Amino acid sequence: MKLAIACDHGGFEMKEALVKHLTAGGYEVTDFGIENPAQGVDYPDYAAKVCQAVTAKEVASGILICGTGIGMSMAANKFKGIRAAVVGDVFSAQATKEHNNANVICLGQRVLGEGLAEMIVDTWLTAEFQGGRHQNRIDKISQLEVNL
Ligand code: RB5
Repeated sequence: MKLAIACDHGGFEMKEALVKHLTAGGYEVTDFGIENPAQGVDYPDYAAKVCQAVTAKEVASGILICGTGIGMSMAANKFKGIRAAVVGDVFSAQATKEHNNANVICLGQRVLGEGLAEMIVDTWLTAEFQGGRHQNRIDKISQLEVNL
């Protein structure tokens, strides 16, 4: 499975750890940066790189990391077709795939340890969307985009 990942300066160490973890797990990971954590950047610029790769279907899913995950999720959810979720626990990681079919997950390096972040991402990537009534609900999210 192909994935895209990016972070701002608040998420660099977790991004590096996840790239290693996911690559070792057999995923093909496109890393959109950052490469230099000493340089402050604006998280919407990096959310855009990952979301464009997801909406262009270059990758199946995207991972975004900032200090809290919140700014990345706010930016990501401005992209048509992106369903981005900030996740801080394993239950929500599973539910946001099964119910929301989240195609982008957002994590906070200042909130989570690396072990939990890896478990959250693994859970989200291996969970399956349940469809049915949940498809109807995400169709309504898509309709909200049309009405903007
Ligand atoms: C950067 O200092 C910080 O604001 C950012 O990483 C993120 O937490 C924003 O939501």
